[in-house]
Amino acid sequence: MSKNLVIAIDGYSSCGKSTLAKALARQLHFIYIDTGAMYRAVTLWFLRNKTDLANAEMVKESLQDIHLNFHSQDYQTHIILNGEDVSEEIRQMAVSQNVSEVSALKAVRKEMVKQQQRMGKSKNIVMDGRDIGTTVFPDARVKIFMTADPKIRAERRFKELTAKGESITLEEVFENIAHRDYMDTTREESPLSRAHDAIILDNTELTEEEQLEFAMKKIKPFLP
Ligand code: DC
Repeated sequence: MSKNLVIAIDGYSSCGKSTLAKALARQLHFIYIDTGAMYRAVTLWFLRNKTDLANAEMVKESLQDIHLNFHSQDYQTHIILNGEDVSEEIRQMAVSQNVSEVSALKAVRKEMVKQQQRMGKSKNIVMDGRDIGTTVFPDARVKIFMTADPKIRAERRFKELTAKGESITLEEVFENIAHRDYMDTTREESPLSRAHDAIILDNTELTEEEQLEFAMKKIKPFLP
């Protein structure tokens, strides 16, 4: 068995995966990898360069021009797209509205999974996404599957976006989350599903501290 520990966190959109993953990485001194940010950065590049998603050749070629890196500073992870920090821009609605279609493309998933597996090889990591426990690291020793009431998820995300100055309604946020849930669970290429050995964490009625405590209890037996 490998010595490094991979903590795989999967789940629905906006249910606090990254909040939990960051808190765990901080507490355990693990590396945090936000795979959603990778799909978002690819989407941003495709939008900027008007990549035709129906053109498989164009998508494949475009992927060769996209170089992604993570840069950590004060426990904040920044995603760098071809040398540019796009951490803020990838959270905007324009990206959220197109990321499901982009992340359903086989060529995109193949490339991202390859990069994610490379990043996690022989390191202690917390990785969050939709297919980490099923496809990227099916042998991960700790798998957590997160869920929460869609209305609560929309309210949390709405607060975050409006605090950043985005002009948007709660209904639009709710619809986007419902659309992404639908796309993520029904797509052909590694759809979102709970790995049979993943622990379910429903945080509808949990605070951030409580969910961290829940996860830490499950992880403790696996720590060196
Ligand atoms: O975690 P997030 O909401 O930032 O992810 C953005 C989108 O990327 C999400 O709608 C689905 C997709 N995604 C994916 O398909 N596979 C992953 N491992 C991570 C994200």
